[in-house]
This record gives sequence, structure tokens and C-alpha cells, in this order.
Amino acid sequence: MTIGTDQILAVLPGACALAQDMTSEFSRLLVAATFRNPRLLQYQLTTHSRSETDGSEFLLEVANLARNPQLRSQLHDHAMDEAKHGRIYTALSERAKEVWLLSDFCGNEGRRDESREAFNGSMVRFFMSLHVAEIRNRLLLDVYLDEIGAIDDKSMRARMYAAIGKIRDDEVRHVNYTLPFVIHGLAAASIALEDVDKAFSMFRSLYWTEASETLRMAATLVTSELPSEGGVEAAFPEDSAVPTQSPWLVLIFSSLNADAVRLIALCKPSSGNAEQPQDPSRPGTVRAAGARVDLDAGFAAIRNLIWNHGNTDCTANKRAALETVAQYFPQEHPSPADMRRIQSFARSLWVDLANATQRFAGEC
Ligand SMILES: [Fe+2]
Ligand SMILES: [Fe+2]
Repeated sequence: MTIGTDQILAVLPGACALAQDMTSEFSRLLVAATFRNPRLLQYQLTTHSRSETDGSEFLLEVANLARNPQLRSQLHDHAMDEAKHGRIYTALSERAKEVWLLSDFCGNEGRRDESREAFNGSMVRFFMSLHVAEIRNRLLLDVYLDEIGAIDDKSMRARMYAAIGKIRDDEVRHVNYTLPFVIHGLAAASIALEDVDKAFSMFRSLYWTEASETLRMAATLVTSELPSEGGVEAAFPEDSAVPTQSPWLVLIFSSLNADAVRLIALCKPSSGNAEQPQDPSRPGTVRAAGARVDLDAGFAAIRNLIWNHGNTDCTANKRAALETVAQYFPQEHPSPADMRRIQSFARSLWVDLANATQRFAGEC
């Protein structure tokens, strides 16, 4: 029987888990949320650009160590592909800047290729890690191609589709040419199946770390880019008759947006030790004419609403929870100080999400 990537993904537990996580609903939603937010998209494109360029430099270093001329030339060609990917991602992020009039992204260092630190001169191990990395790339880009429709600018969508398709074809080629090295290493017992499986687990952990970094970036964007439109309907689009129009709730839910609400709700089942929201029915100062409002209780109620009803179809329960939430917030427009509280609450939910995904990384 010929061993192919599909067999590896189906047989090795670490590989199955990586494929499952990277193509999960959570993963797809996070990609779509990233594509919907120009600044987050720009962050992701510049991160990819730096990672690909760094990977290319590492491949060239290894190529120079290879004694076999054919191997040296294969690695050199591979390095050129990755350098080209780096340039394509840079061009895409430049295009994003033009389309959405964005400033440069500061402070994004990108990620150093972790296999560089793990490299101990063993070509067999190097190729095993490279093969797994290329499978990871293919999985990621397959999801990218599926979710490109989330980009709202038509020209950017077309550019992304062509560029990502081209990179994806290269990654498939990289998966295919590295596979015989892994099979040969296994046949010669230079590596064991468990080693390959461990490499998959390492990349799975890396996937969650990167997801967490993206969510942390999303949290910082809430501060500077609090939207002024939308509201509960945006967060729960399937509920047409929402029971409140408090300007507070409009701002809170529009700053969270539907993506965050769904991501938080999806994250909940697996994040066993994540902090549970407070019971919104605890005694708080519910809004009454002229009464002081208990905003902390209101924020806790929203947290509970999203965690328990953000991803359910039970409209009656959701509406009841929304009605509870509505009681905590005034009808007056929030003051500038209150706006800062809303921002910091929305940010804290993104950070909770980032922490939950960081925990998944530790569990791989
Ligand atoms: Fe690449
Ligand atoms: Fe590649």
C-alpha cells in the first residue's frame, strides 16, 4: 500500500487531532472573523510574511549543510518558494493598506521557525518536521480558501483567492516531495511513528498558540476601533425581535460583534477550567427610575448570556437572558468614562478567549 498524506492524517492520533482542530468550526470562524476585520487581516498577512521569510532563510542554511547535490538543490528550490510566499504576503498586506487606508503595523515580530531551535543536524528529523509543517500549511490554506468570501472588498477578495491558491499549490508540492524522506526514515528505523506523531502534536500546540495571539490582537483592536453601529441584532442575527435598544447594549454588542459571541460560545465546551461567568441572578442593583445601576452585574449577565446562549438555537431562553441583561443597563447614552468601561469589558472577553485557546496549546 502506498502511504499518502491522507493515510497519515487518518491513522496517527496527533495528526488526526491537528486536522480536526485546524478544520473545526472554531478555526473556520476565527479565520472568517480575521478576514472580516481589515486590521486583523493585515496583522495575519504580515505575520505570515515574516514567518515564510524566516522559514526560507532556515531552509537555505540547511541546504548549505546538505552533502548530496540533489538534496541541496531541492532544499534551495524550496527556500525560493518560501521566500516568494513571504513576498506575496507582503504584497497582500500592502494591498490591504491601500484598500482600507490602514497605517503600518508596528510591533508585530512574526514567529521564528521553532524547528530551527530543534534542529540538531539530523536531516531525517529535519524532513519529518518539515513534512508536518507543510501539512499544517496545507490545512490552513484550505480553510483560508473556503473563508475568503468573508472579505468585504471585491478586489481584495480576488487577489487573496489567486494568491492563496498559488501558495497552497506550492505547499501541496512541498508536502509531496518531503513525504518519501519520512517514509524512508521510518523504514530505516531512523525515526519512529511516535516521533512523527509528536511532531504533529507540536504543530497542533503551535496552532493554538497562534490562534491565541490572533485573539489577543483582536482584543487590542477593540480599544481603538469601537464601532458605533450595530447592536444586539449584529451579535445574534437570527433573533429579529430583541427586547432592548439601550444605547449601552447597542455599543457593547457591536464592540463584541457576532464573531466574538460565536467564538466564545464555541470555546466553552472544551475549556473546562475556564473561568465561569457569575450567575446573573445574583442580587444586583437592577435599573429603576433614578436608581444607580450595577454595571458589574450587567457585564456578568452578558458574559453568562454569551456563554450559555451564544451558540444555541433556543430563542426563548436567549430572549429571556437578553431581557435579564437589559434590566441592568440605563437608557441614557454612556458617558466617555462609561465608554471606556464598555471597551475594557469587550476587550476582557477577547482576552478570555485568548487565554482559553492558550490553555488548549498546553494540553496538546
Ligand atoms: Fe510557504
Ligand atoms: Fe511550504
